[in-house]
Formats: sequence, C-alpha cells, structure tokens
Amino acid sequence: MELWFNQDGVSGEGMLESRIDSILIGEEEIRERVAGLGEQITQYYSEIGGDLIVVGLLRGCFVFMADLVRHIRYPLTVDFMAVSSYGDGTVSTGDVKIVMDLDASIEGRNVLVVEDIIDTGTTFKKILRMLNNRNPASLKVCTFLNKPSRRTHPVQIDFCGKDIPDEFVCGYGLDYAQEYRNLPYVGVLKQEDIWRVRTISQYLRKIMTRKDVDSSGSSARIFPEMLGCGFFLLPHIILQQS
Ligand code: IMP
Ligand code: MG
Repeated sequence: MELWFNQDGVSGEGMLESRIDSILIGEEEIRERVAGLGEQITQYYSEIGGDLIVVGLLRGCFVFMADLVRHIRYPLTVDFMAVSSYGDGTVSTGDVKIVMDLDASIEGRNVLVVEDIIDTGTTFKKILRMLNNRNPASLKVCTFLNKPSRRTHPVQIDFCGKDIPDEFVCGYGLDYAQEYRNLPYVGVLKQEDIWRVRTISQYLRKIMTRKDVDSSGSSARIFPEMLGCGFFLLPHIILQQS
C-alpha cells in the first residue's frame, strides 16, 4: 500500500517515484552532459583568463552546480543568490524577488551564473540586469535545462545542458512545490498529482485559515470540513492501493 501523502515514511521508497510519469533525462545522460559543460567552461575561461566567480541561483541550482564545479578545471570561487518567482505553482507569476543577495563583490571579475532551468526567462532577465549594474569584467550564463518554446524574455545562454520540450519537470535539484529535488534524474510529474497536490493543499489552507476556527485548532466547527476532506481523499487512497 502506498499513501503518497504519508509524512511518516511508512510507505517507504516507492512514495517518491510513484508520482513520476516518465524519466526525461536519466542519470547517465546527466553525467555526460555535465561533464561536457565542465569541459566547455574550462576551455573558455582558460582562453580569456582572469578571476572567475561562479554564482548559483538557489535553490534549484544546488545539485547541478555541485556536480558542475567538479568538472571545471580552472580556479574559481562560488557564491549564491536566492530569488523567488513561482511560489508553489507551476506557472511563473512574473514577480521576481531577491530573497538573498551575494556575499562577494563581482566588480571587475568574470561571473558565470548557474541556473537549473530557463523557462520564460523572466527571472533571468531581471537578475542579469542587476548583476550587470555591478560592473563585472564578463557575465556568462550556464543553465542545465532550457525550454526555448516558453521564452517571453530573450536570454543569451552561453552554456546549455539540454533543450527540453514544454513540460513541467522535476528532480536533479528542480522542484514542484519544493518537493522532488532529491530525485537523481529529471522526471515528468504525473498530471493528476500536480492537480491533487494543488487542490488538496488549497482546500486544507482554506479550512485552516477560516476566521471561526479558534487558535487551539480544536473547534468543533471545523469537523464538518475535515469530514468533507476525508471523503474527498478516500477515492485517492483507494486508487493508490489498486
Ligand atoms: P522563468 O522565470 O520562467 O524562466 O523561470 C525560471 C525558474 O522557474 C527556474 O529557476 C525554476 O526554479 C522554475 N521552473 C521553470 N520551469 C520549471 C520546471 O519545469 N520545473 C521546475 N521548476 C521550473
Ligand atoms: Mg523552482
């Protein structure tokens, strides 16, 4: 039996994988592509020379960047920025917020920005403009994945792991609602799970934030809603078992 929403780990290993429809990029292909990118980047900076700082955009970059820097045979330092644009959904809100800025100055240095995926380009456009204003010696872009068909804001990509079709993918650092980053491959999430996660979380949020629910959460008034939620979940539990 697999209850994918079970937080206690009772249903074990299959819980994560059972929500993946197909594998888009397997572990072997990831290794080859990251090694190839490392070689291209090494060659490029060996030719132009100078100081190199690799800037990762958290959180999506963390798996890819950890692998990538180990394939770059050129002296470098690393720094990170965190931006948010998606909330918990699958569609960009276009509202890009800088959550955490760089520690180091990039003035006069070669900057390589590392991203997990470039989709509409909204996020990147804003970040690149901001970094450019800090007068780096050069500013280059490396992304593991690219969805060219979704672009609304043109972005110059200097090093790209792979172009992919317009599908919402997760794994290898990429998330859906902050989950799945730990998958060792890039997978496509089951459509019904995108729908289920969104609907159930919205429903629960609505119930729990109602003004007539007291702070102890023990109000008898939420009972009918919880009962309704139970009936709503029951078919999914049965389906999971079959
Ligand atoms: P953009 O601003 O539309 O280019 O979105 C860039 C950011 O959206 C990426 O850094 C990801 O965090 C997220 N994103 C876009 N497409 C996907 C996807 O297919 N899976 C997971 N995250 C995605
Ligand atoms: Mg994300």
